[in-house]
Amino acid sequence: MDRFLIRGGKKLHGTVHISGSKNAALPILVATLLTDEKCILHRVPNLRDVRTTLKILEYLGKKITYQNNTVTIEANGQLKNDLPYELVKQMRASFWVAGPLLARFKEAQIPLPGGCAIGVRPVDIHLKGFEKLGASCETQAGNVLIRAEKLVPAKIVLRFPSVGATQNLLMCACLIEGETVLENVAKEPEIDDVISFLTKMGARIRIGEKGNLIVQGVKTLHGAEHTVVADRIESGSFMLAAAATRGDVTVADCVPEHNAILLEDLQEAGFTLTVGKDSVRVHAYDGEIKPLRICTAPYPGFATDLQAPWMTLMTLCTGTAEVDEAVFENRFMHAPELVRMGAQISTEKSLARVTGVKKLSAAHVQSSDLRGGFALVIAGLCAEGETEVERVYHIDRGYEKLEEKLTALGADIRRYNPDKNEF
Ligand code: UD1
Repeated sequence: MDRFLIRGGKKLHGTVHISGSKNAALPILVATLLTDEKCILHRVPNLRDVRTTLKILEYLGKKITYQNNTVTIEANGQLKNDLPYELVKQMRASFWVAGPLLARFKEAQIPLPGGCAIGVRPVDIHLKGFEKLGASCETQAGNVLIRAEKLVPAKIVLRFPSVGATQNLLMCACLIEGETVLENVAKEPEIDDVISFLTKMGARIRIGEKGNLIVQGVKTLHGAEHTVVADRIESGSFMLAAAATRGDVTVADCVPEHNAILLEDLQEAGFTLTVGKDSVRVHAYDGEIKPLRICTAPYPGFATDLQAPWMTLMTLCTGTAEVDEAVFENRFMHAPELVRMGAQISTEKSLARVTGVKKLSAAHVQSSDLRGGFALVIAGLCAEGETEVERVYHIDRGYEKLEEKLTALGADIRRYNPDKNEF
């Protein structure tokens, strides 16, 4: 398994170009199941989760070509409406094929995604929504069989604004005749990008009061071409890496307003930013990093996906910072690894208290999830000496060309596979 070897202590400097959003690309790829016509998607990041989704689409019967971040998806005969566990277990978002398959075939059989490192992550909100749309959901031998004689439009109030459930139900509703209203939905920018793609396919979706989604179902959707929005989590991750290494970095080709809260918090912590139309420059800063209290929340709140990289920055603050993780119940696995690098962190339930230290020290650490893995990479970039980060495959799920991008910013980072004994 690949590892990163990082020689820390170098301030990042230069410009980094942001890739297309993983969390927008995945549901948009899945949405192509709603049509047999050709779809062309640009700026699709070449990541493990994207490649898994393409395998899923191929398994279901699509023909795919993927070159230079452009994916072309065409029909290749009749679509299937079931998925094997082998594909679902690699990525929880696989469950999102349920909505489009149910809409098209009135039946879908998908293995339950089960738990994952950052929490239990049930799919009850998705299933309750499908039931409101007229389907029955039955679990047998680890699979959920979702089927309906006839799908009907409905008003659905989500008990929590789940990103995945919002997308799954939205995709399904596009092909149900009549008006479906989704309330208390997720408002993440990735949802807007999915809506934009679905609208290009011929879907009729309005955003009503309080962000409710009002869908007028249509009989069929057609092919469409779309460019995926910039990845706000990658953007924020690089801003935090720049700040923690006390570097001077311009994060280019991003959408600054998608990171509005992070930009506020970075400035409050002491950093000077220049915010352009599609770029953010984090200026070099050698002063004290002010400890802040942050609490993660659905968009536009502080993104849970940036909680771990933010925590690495706070390990270097002056005083004690607080990090409250209110979206996932078990998202502090990076904390004990950061402690192994000299950080002072105590956690209790959803709250982490981080007392700043002057320096982090290099260590052999292990990533156990995607964003927590990136938090360790930032720590390695700051620490004196050589840090070894194991289980890079988690990080590969969500950061395109990470070593290339960091190396271009002056970092000393190499990928290494001890099993192959080669660099
Ligand atoms: C998506 C993102 C992920 C991000 C998360 C929250 C993708 C591919 N992944 O994940 O990066 O961290 O949003 O912003 O876009 N929940 C339930 N029942 C459900 C569904 C969710 O209880 O049926 C709970 C989850 O356990 C979790 C919370 O709701 O505690 C948020 O989950 P959700 O918004 O659904 O996250 P994902 O869509 O899985």
